[in-house]
Amino acid sequence: MAAKDIIAGVPRHVAIIMDGNGRWATSRGWPRLVGHRRGAEAVRGIVEAAPGLGIRYLTLYAFSTENWKRSTEEVIGLMTIFARYIQSEAQRLSDEGVRLRFIGGRERLDRKLQKLMAGIERRTSGNDLLHLTVAINYGGRDELMRAARRLAEEVAAGRLDPGAIDEAAFAARLDTSDLPDPDLVIRTSGETRISNFLLWQSAYTEYEFTDTLWPDFTPAELAAILARYQRRERRFGGALTA
Ligand code: IPE
Ligand code: IPE
Ligand code: MG
Repeated sequence: MAAKDIIAGVPRHVAIIMDGNGRWATSRGWPRLVGHRRGAEAVRGIVEAAPGLGIRYLTLYAFSTENWKRSTEEVIGLMTIFARYIQSEAQRLSDEGVRLRFIGGRERLDRKLQKLMAGIERRTSGNDLLHLTVAINYGGRDELMRAARRLAEEVAAGRLDPGAIDEAAFAARLDTSDLPDPDLVIRTSGETRISNFLLWQSAYTEYEFTDTLWPDFTPAELAAILARYQRRERRFGGALTA
């Protein structure tokens, strides 16, 4: 493996753990939901900038399987923000060539929200400029468990030979079956943990952590992170030859 072959270049798939909305608001004496609303505005700017930065796949962690532990007010407020985002962005996303998809378990979500999600997925399914994926009620362990259950059901039904279960068969049953693995995961707000995000898919992902709180995250900071990423060496377990 020669050095020139392992320089990272432009990341095709960037995933972001959008953290720090609550602290952004409480530090100003405002309710946490104000931070979430500002967070949704930050999403608009990043989605708009992504194609110009060479990103083809952008995945955003919006609500984890553990976020149900928050107050009812905050959970309902977040779900309302997701519904409004879909409604207000639908036209723009479809006009701009963005394909929007969701990952995470859907059955626990409000029926109306589920309908909006399915509707915009259908409406943007022909788009190819930017593949935007939003993770709602997503947890890496939950996704792996659901994939394992699917495999077990197929084996039990006699449709799958256990010997045929390889990495590709497993990946094909994940919510991300249509997406490449993330090249880069960014987490805002200064926390240096992955909080159950893309556990299988991040086996060889590069990480960047920034202290910026999500509502303050700008396309300029994203561009600076991408410039740093491009100089990284990715070895995937291989060894440098010369
Ligand atoms: C991220 O911001 C958004 C969600 C997890 C839904 P937080 O709400 O976690 O903000 P902090 O971490 O409390 O500041
Ligand atoms: C991770 O943030 C989940 C999202 C950004 C949606 P959290 O704020 O929920 O993570 P922890 O609790 O600090 O690990
Ligand atoms: Mg947080």
